[in-house]
Amino acid sequence: MCGIVAYIGSRPAFPVILKGLKRLEYRGYDSSGIALFGEEVACFKRKGRVAELEAWTESVTATAHVGIGHTRWATHGEPSDANAHPHTSNSGRLTLVHNGIIENYASLKQELIAKGYTFKSETDTEVLVNFIEEIQQKNESTLEEAMRIALKRVVGAYVIIVMEEGFPERLIAARKGSPLVIGVGEGEHFLASDASPIIEYTKRVIYVNDYELAIISKDEIILKNLGNEPITPYIQQLDMELAQIEKGGYDHFMLKEIFDQPASLTDCLRGRLDMENLSLTLKGVEDHLSVFTQAKRIVIVACGTSWHAGLVAEYMIETLCRIPVEVEYASEFRYRNPVIGPGDVIIAISQSGETADTLVAIERAKEQGAFIFGVVNAVGSSIARLSHSGAYTHAGPEIGVASTKAFTAQLTVLAMMAMKIGKEKGTLSSDEYNRYLAELAQIPAKVEKTLATHEQVKAVAAYYAEARDFLFLGRGYNFPVALEGALKLKEISYIHAEGYPAAEMKHGPIALVDENLPVLFIATQDAYYEKIVSNIQEIKARKGKVIAVVTEGDTLISSMADHVLEVPAVDELLAPLLSVLPTQLLSYYIGVLRGLDVDKPRNLAKSVTVE
Ligand code: AGP
Repeated sequence: MCGIVAYIGSRPAFPVILKGLKRLEYRGYDSSGIALFGEEVACFKRKGRVAELEAWTESVTATAHVGIGHTRWATHGEPSDANAHPHTSNSGRLTLVHNGIIENYASLKQELIAKGYTFKSETDTEVLVNFIEEIQQKNESTLEEAMRIALKRVVGAYVIIVMEEGFPERLIAARKGSPLVIGVGEGEHFLASDASPIIEYTKRVIYVNDYELAIISKDEIILKNLGNEPITPYIQQLDMELAQIEKGGYDHFMLKEIFDQPASLTDCLRGRLDMENLSLTLKGVEDHLSVFTQAKRIVIVACGTSWHAGLVAEYMIETLCRIPVEVEYASEFRYRNPVIGPGDVIIAISQSGETADTLVAIERAKEQGAFIFGVVNAVGSSIARLSHSGAYTHAGPEIGVASTKAFTAQLTVLAMMAMKIGKEKGTLSSDEYNRYLAELAQIPAKVEKTLATHEQVKAVAAYYAEARDFLFLGRGYNFPVALEGALKLKEISYIHAEGYPAAEMKHGPIALVDENLPVLFIATQDAYYEKIVSNIQEIKARKGKVIAVVTEGDTLISSMADHVLEVPAVDELLAPLLSVLPTQLLSYYIGVLRGLDVDKPRNLAKSVTVE
């Protein structure tokens, strides 16, 4: 779950790599390092943020044109200077950076220790660089050959980029399970975990696939598989602007991305929702329509916020398509040996498209003959490429670790899928279908209107910024929003928060309620309204502090709650797209009031590429 960057060309490599690491810091930020290939290889690495490495290397006047860099999310060995990357082999001849986990590193390490190797760190990565060196020396082979042999014996996930003493004009990279993008320039090449460090230099990129090796000089890229067969590089054009990965005048990426949502949802609907012809175009579904209309069941697989989007989709698809839906935590699904086979449709939801548990879960399901449909934000990511078909959410780059605009874009794609399949299956009438399209078309404007109430949310945040615990409650479509609101508050403010179906309270959690416990109800107008009113009364009867997200103009709940946050009226099926917004803002403002780094919360990272 780290970020890696490399450069080979004619520019000074150090500033290019340092800037790239800052762009990738959301992938891991507990230590960082850079190795430069000048006269010889020089390595700089430090515990802490990239800014600490920058300060520590202020006096470095490196002119080297080749280098590799890394920002870390610790898996093996705590954050420290010694465990920071790059790691060098015992002879000093090989230096590499690594993103991923070598699962069989302990046994490899024993083998190497028996051969006299010593280790300065606790990392699996230092084992890997020495293992490659051992193979190279034993076989008197080239580095490329040694990497091919070594990587066939490695179990786990990796992207590695290796520099070899005596070969300053080339880098060798390899990939399995973790992401790697190569930026193609004129007389220079850039390598990175994603395109954000590359985009300001070139929009021509190559996405490296699993089991591929890339030998890169400043003028040439040679791609091969581990079987030493050449692969023709497929150069793609990035459809991303640099501005999209900058803060745009906001204090934090999280706030920028929350306010991006009217635009990101418009982008998500563009070319799909046609109100003139009252039609929806979802090519990924249309190309395989019968797979969906004849599906016996749909299994949604995801993690974190994406899993919450899956829960909302369960309500949407079962209501509009009358197809049974199961929503699975990918981390459990991948090991549970679930009953999956041909005829089953798996929907994999992921912002990054690189979440390891979701990736392996769909690999398993694919092996058993299931049809895989990806709902993904990151274009060209592993889950997108592994799926039989899919739909991109087009939310644009999401830098803040807490997922916000990707969540609402996921809900929008899933709603369009439910409407499309329901219509084609005949379980949704044309009138209903047209009514839903009209509702969908109004969503970006209603999101804008909801975000305009941010000052009210800020005022409520000031009330509860010192809370020790928090409960989020909802029913029906809003139950998953309660879970999502609780997750956002946990991630951003470190307050212990839980989400529950409101009717579940009587079965235990209501014991937590007293005058010190804020309880946020997602209570917009829907079929459950009367029920949730009585749930609010149960909390008020025990002196709980109630914050209620209600439909604008609500008077009943507004008279009962301590604080009210309004959203425009909308059909209950699309209510989560609006009712989640105050919870995103609330967690943001509470996080800021508590003086926390809302873009890079402790212990987290944006893309969980290890299990
Ligand atoms: C959400 O704010 C978190 N960043 C996290 O729960 C995230 O949703 C989860 O890791 C899944 O990521 P994905 O959507 O990229 O697969």
